Amino acid sequence: MRIQTPLATNVVGSLFPLLALCQDNANWISVGDDGRSFSLSSSNVSYQFHVDPLTLDLIHDHWGAYAAETVPDFNGVVSGWGTAYTYRRREFPDLGRGDFRVPAIHIQHSDGDTVSAFSYTGYDINPGKPSLPGLPATYGSEGDVSTLIIHLYDNYSDISADLYYSIFPRYNAVTRSFRITNNGSRDVTVLRASSWSIDMPNEELEMIDLYGDWAAEARINRRSVTYGEQGFRSSAGYSSHFHNPFLALASPSTTESFGPVTGYSLVYTGSFSADVERWSTGWVRVLLGLNPLHLSWPVAPGEVFTSPEVVSVYSEQGLGGMSRSFHSLYRNHLSRSNYTFETRPPLLNSWEGLGFDFNQSSMVKLAKEAADLGCSLFVNDDGWFGTDYPRNNDSLGLGDWTPDPAKFPDGLGPYVEQVDNILVQNTSEHVKLGLWVEPEMVSPDSDLYKRHPEWCMHAGNHNRTLQRNQLVLNLGLQEVQDYIITVIESILDSAPIKYIKWDNNRGIHEMSSPSANHANMLGLYRVIDNLTTAHPEVLWEGCASGGARFDAGLLHYWPQSWTSDDTDGLERLYIQFGTSYPYPPSAMGCHVSAVPNHQTGRTTPLAFRAAVASMCGSFGFELDPSTLTQEELDTIPKLISTQQRINPTVINGDFYRLALPDQSNWPAAMFVSPEHDSAVLFAFQIRSALKPLPPPLKLQGLDPDAKYTVSNGTWEQNWSGSTLMNIGLSLSWPTSDYESIILTFDRH
Ligand code: DGJ
Repeated sequence: MRIQTPLATNVVGSLFPLLALCQDNANWISVGDDGRSFSLSSSNVSYQFHVDPLTLDLIHDHWGAYAAETVPDFNGVVSGWGTAYTYRRREFPDLGRGDFRVPAIHIQHSDGDTVSAFSYTGYDINPGKPSLPGLPATYGSEGDVSTLIIHLYDNYSDISADLYYSIFPRYNAVTRSFRITNNGSRDVTVLRASSWSIDMPNEELEMIDLYGDWAAEARINRRSVTYGEQGFRSSAGYSSHFHNPFLALASPSTTESFGPVTGYSLVYTGSFSADVERWSTGWVRVLLGLNPLHLSWPVAPGEVFTSPEVVSVYSEQGLGGMSRSFHSLYRNHLSRSNYTFETRPPLLNSWEGLGFDFNQSSMVKLAKEAADLGCSLFVNDDGWFGTDYPRNNDSLGLGDWTPDPAKFPDGLGPYVEQVDNILVQNTSEHVKLGLWVEPEMVSPDSDLYKRHPEWCMHAGNHNRTLQRNQLVLNLGLQEVQDYIITVIESILDSAPIKYIKWDNNRGIHEMSSPSANHANMLGLYRVIDNLTTAHPEVLWEGCASGGARFDAGLLHYWPQSWTSDDTDGLERLYIQFGTSYPYPPSAMGCHVSAVPNHQTGRTTPLAFRAAVASMCGSFGFELDPSTLTQEELDTIPKLISTQQRINPTVINGDFYRLALPDQSNWPAAMFVSPEHDSAVLFAFQIRSALKPLPPPLKLQGLDPDAKYTVSNGTWEQNWSGSTLMNIGLSLSWPTSDYESIILTFDRH
């Protein structure tokens, strides 16, 4: 039997083209003359929704290519078994009124029930974008972004919800977060909070996301969106190696360069959940936000809960276009570091070369060898600290951030001075020293743990399970936050340290309550906000057992992140291409390490490893130069000089993935300067193969009418942009595995 809801009858044929009122200076947000239809638009994209006249629920209309009019209820009547909420494409789905899909918001009231009934009450439009209290977020001025705030109220429970939508028209991007305010007199608990929620129409879609593990981050996963729930989450307490807080939804025909795609990126570092659900109607609900397993956030009367932000971009230039929108938005309006657009110093990191086995004189010797290769930054990784429990292996000393007197008898000052006296080969530049820290952790064998066993994350009397022999400090406690700020400040005060690698090497296991994860994140953000604001001169690099926290949350504070502990050149191609889906290569830390590779045992040529690492913003070495051959020692300064020459284009350019390692034996990518004046191409041959021949490498992003000088450093040729893009290069490859070619293109 067909049941037609009264609501459905009422909306038959109700097509209301939008009469736009330009409410904001830049005309990016318009409101229908009924005051209840909203459109956020650039010349390329539109995000549209309206208020249902009967229920005052928000109904999603469109997110995609530009549309001149808003057409509420274009889908017309939907009949079936259900209520006014079952068959609507909702914008902020709550639970308990007959919408049986996954909700975006789920609140438990003091009497135990979990029904919410949010209704529209009004809106505001603000030029610019307000910051999110305590959370990282994109930012911009009036000329960059406008914000629409939608007010909803649940009269039954006296809870208001304010949805913040911002449009960055130059980037085809819309962001959303929301605030829940408890106006009642009793506590409530937010059980679920998906910052982003839309119901897309019934179209064929494929979901693209990044999964992986330690030393195998950011593998690309593409699958059809079918009926039922599909998604992924991190319950590790952090964004994690296992899944990255990013997804894209594309048409099955969308490729790297063509076709429609929406991308979604959560600006957050804790446990998260991405949920995609195709419903009986074929509609697809898309949710991205906090992981309900790690939320249960209490909101007392008068208090406000703020969700993190999701950034969504729309592109018709395929996954490549999506990535370029994310990259430029994140460099210009997420990262707030002084270094975002700066050429990064070539560095040598001690970890894979010396591990824990060093002292001041072996470190100074390593710094001198680094300088002789052309490195201007020397990074002393793990193992420099601890007095009573000196960090001679990974079971000792985390939490005790004073130099180990056996390794550094006079403290850090004289050591840093010794390193600073070293000049980079053939220059008058002094080597700078960088230091590794892991401040969110504590070793059971440490003075800190003996003094404050209550400072670590724990759940009553449950066993405090160790991972890498360590426990996690509870940054939800203000005294822990203040301790970390003080110890890092005192390290930076003790010597001119120019770079900090901030590591984090285990997941969160036992917690006193589910909300401890979000509290921990808010504490972490307070700590790093404080330190990065006080020390903008320091180059900060995030790290979490490789790339376990490569997320947009931390990129707000730190301009770069270590991409993976797997430094094998071939594996890195997969990891770096995957990571580049949402995150700019300029934010990746990538190093050349010794062969056979520590993680995979594979031997690849030095030039291949260097070309792979040069595709990133921060380039360096992770080896002991005393183990290198003379030929390698002679080659490395030339590799550094090439890398430094192309680094400005890598840092500032638009990134084009021309061929992915998952799909081609000849992966390639290029960066093009914003003015299309210069470009750099990275091309690779994985296996030597006689047949088939490599396909022509058709470049992208160049000015078709410009002439470019193409050079590999030893020869030059002139070609026009149109030839390079439409006929493409036929590269001739040697008959050997793991080959690489770097070409530069300069307009003349
Ligand atoms: C894990 C990091 O990913 C490595 O680069 C290194 O810093 C070690 N921790 C040190 O313990």
